[in-house]
Amino acid sequence: MAGDLILGIETSCDETSAAVVSGGRFVKSNIIASQINLHREFGGVVPELASRKHLELLDRVIKKALDEAGVGFSDLDGIAVTYGPGLVGSLLIGIVAAKTLSWSLGLPLIGVNHILGHIYSNLLEHPELEPPLLCLTVSGGHTDLLYTEEWGEYRILGRTRDDAAGESYDKVARFLGLGYPGGPAVERIAESGDPDRFSLPSPNLGEDRFGFSFSGLKTAVINLAHNLEQKEGQIPVADIAASFQKTVVDILLERVERALKDYPVDKVLLAGGVAANKYLRRRLQESLEKKGVDLYYPSLEYCTDNAAMVAGAGYFLLQQGKVSSLDLDAYPQLKI
Ligand code: KG4
Ligand code: ZN
Repeated sequence: MAGDLILGIETSCDETSAAVVSGGRFVKSNIIASQINLHREFGGVVPELASRKHLELLDRVIKKALDEAGVGFSDLDGIAVTYGPGLVGSLLIGIVAAKTLSWSLGLPLIGVNHILGHIYSNLLEHPELEPPLLCLTVSGGHTDLLYTEEWGEYRILGRTRDDAAGESYDKVARFLGLGYPGGPAVERIAESGDPDRFSLPSPNLGEDRFGFSFSGLKTAVINLAHNLEQKEGQIPVADIAASFQKTVVDILLERVERALKDYPVDKVLLAGGVAANKYLRRRLQESLEKKGVDLYYPSLEYCTDNAAMVAGAGYFLLQQGKVSSLDLDAYPQLKI
């Protein structure tokens, strides 16, 4: 079938990834070269280092994706690439590679919104998924709650006004000296902490019933830790991490439960790096089960950044005739 086999390229942040996906849902290969070790000593992603590493790795990663899928360039039907949101220098490395391949092979170029990729990551393991549904995308750069009645049409119900959910994990982890990336580190230490020891603020955003805000929570955690250190001489890291995590998940859950009242669907998708969090999955699962609503989330490989989700979303865009021209540019602040 025309447009069947898509090469996806993802370089928006600190993962260099290429994948081959057939029919938008069947992963033939998904190669991810993580740069975590490179950035760890700096406590976060250093944009300049990230772009240089993408440049160094991307050729090999693409070759490996083709080899593992058992296909050559001539078998492909399109080249999909993340063009935003993300780090501009990193995005450009993937975009230039994709344009070069598209031009030299005479294949359609498909610019993919990274957030759309995260949403579609759920289809890679649940090809039968069909709207209407709600999707909560939670990652290092975005926190979006959306409703869709058909693939391709999205109603944004709420997004974050300041920090993204994953960003708040990363900042709290950095403050507590837990290292980078912060999400898994906070989750790990929170397992041995008391989530009810500290009561932390959740924002009231008035009319914006589905909106998010995490920067006040982060500041409250920092103030709490300072106060305890002064009073008790040490910071109860595990209890603070557990109380912080509980508050983040309470906020996310509350918005989903509210959205279900206005949009009574029977499917909720979770996507993005924070969807890897087992505590979030469990709490959401427990809440939705009581309502007879099914929860879907990708396996770990497809939660954090990967090119399979980009190729998957690219396939659907190609089917809809949404191809890009060779002047495709990077959009660091792109929204869904
Ligand atoms: O989707 P992703 O790989 O990149 C972006 O598009 O931003 O998400 C990365 C984010 C980071 O903030 C990381 O700390 C968070 O996802 N994350 C987690 C977990 N694993 C990754 N947050 C909470 N719990 C986790 N287990
Ligand atoms: Zn992402």
